[in-house]
Amino acid sequence: MEIKHICCIGAGYVGGPTMAVLAQKCPHLRITIVDANPEKIQAWNSDDLQNLPVFEPGLADIIQKVRGKNLFFSTDIDKSIQEADTLFISVNTPTKTYGKGKGMAADLKFVELCVRKIAEVSKDRKIVIEKSTIPVKTASLIKTILEQSDSKVEFHVLSNPEFLAEGTAVENLVNPDRVLIGGESMEAIEALSKVYENWIPKEKIITTNLWSSELSKLVANAFLAQRVSSINAISELCEATGANIAEVAKAVGSDSRIGPKFLNASVGFGGSCFQKDLLNLVYIARSYNLDAVADYWEQVLIINNHQKKRFADQIVKKLYNTLADKKIGVLGWAFKKDTNDTRESPAIYVSHDLLNEQAVLQIFDPKVKKQRIYEDLESLTDKDYDLNTQVQVFQDPYEALHEVHAIAVLTEWEEFKELDWEKIYKNMRKPAFIFDGRRLLTDKNLQDLGFKYYVIGGE
Ligand code: UDX
Ligand code: ADP
Repeated sequence: MEIKHICCIGAGYVGGPTMAVLAQKCPHLRITIVDANPEKIQAWNSDDLQNLPVFEPGLADIIQKVRGKNLFFSTDIDKSIQEADTLFISVNTPTKTYGKGKGMAADLKFVELCVRKIAEVSKDRKIVIEKSTIPVKTASLIKTILEQSDSKVEFHVLSNPEFLAEGTAVENLVNPDRVLIGGESMEAIEALSKVYENWIPKEKIITTNLWSSELSKLVANAFLAQRVSSINAISELCEATGANIAEVAKAVGSDSRIGPKFLNASVGFGGSCFQKDLLNLVYIARSYNLDAVADYWEQVLIINNHQKKRFADQIVKKLYNTLADKKIGVLGWAFKKDTNDTRESPAIYVSHDLLNEQAVLQIFDPKVKKQRIYEDLESLTDKDYDLNTQVQVFQDPYEALHEVHAIAVLTEWEEFKELDWEKIYKNMRKPAFIFDGRRLLTDKNLQDLGFKYYVIGGE
């Protein structure tokens, strides 16, 4: 078995960067990425490399080099599946918003549609690889659908979860900590391993059975999220006691068993994976009647929601318990720096709470488009506010912060550090408050400029 021609279904945050790096590292492979959304494919094919559907440092350069050579974007899903010997499923798996498991389980409708399409159109042997994050045992769903199709084609199902983090996707793909391949078919595992060995040392390629691979992805994200919630829980204690969370994190993280990474206190974690995967883990544990296990992991989410809420509550409290008609400048909308992704961004939930207090928000993010911000807020329920009169999105940070009563820093964009804070102070209402939800401006001596500066985790 040899992989020569790949089709990746789903041209999103996972499929796009993953296939771009694969194409760059394996010039002998022909790779086609397909998507059900023709506008997305058009944007990937556009000459305007600054506005690709996914922003990732280094990605546009790679696309420019490989697109049209061995990487292609297409809307012809059937033909692309037929021509490929290997199919990556990289479609979205959001949390279910309806029916059984609503708000908890992963919605596999896109995966299922994809697999039914593969079963329907395939004419010869295929390796089918689940790349999207999915609940344990999804491979058996995939296998059942494929095996029961009329085609009588031979399918080899593998799990090859993606561990890339947004904002560093290219770096993570080029130099991963590990590659995980789960499956039953040794020849398919070997064929995929050979592809990665083009640039990744063999000892970093871990092979497991299907279920271990699927579960490892959920558990890796649950552990990472747990670290953030752990440090965030302690950040509240620091604020109450006068300790400083950065000092505590340094002292604790210096223990080589604990390690220094992923201990940055924040306004809460966001992103498409952590919450979804935790909910999924909790749902799976409950479905096996493992309530103590489910309760344990659910607590990570409870702390995360608490952190976002208490940040918004603190703004209200410090601004004399009313935000009615007060202007708040919001710096950052993405769920972290260096991405235009806003899924589950804490900025959405903090802003929602501030708007419900009748604040007027003036928002700036260097990469997120205005329309996305409005859509994020529109998608929420329990809105006691008017988006048209209470929300304004700016393309210039100084305009967004002009005459505001307070500033909320919600994404850790490096460029915010370089702003002219003296100028901003002059143009603000006094007393001028800054609420730093990312500990981004701790060394800017903002108090010396006259600001009232509050930071998550204490000064
Ligand atoms: C995560 C995993 O890291 C990745 O391996 C997996 O494949 C997908 O999910 P991602 O969601 O892109 O990646 O970003 P990550 O860097 O993990 O950050 C997640 C959230 O946690 C962000 O909102 C980030 O701001 C927050 N975070 C992270 C903190 O608040 N503090 C930290 O110390 C680290
Ligand atoms: P992820 O972060 O998992 O990559 P995205 O939402 O960024 O998620 O991307 C998933 C992509 O998969 C979307 O562009 C969506 O249009 C595409 N998609 C979903 N279902 C199908 C399908 N059945 N066939 C083709 N593409 C699909």
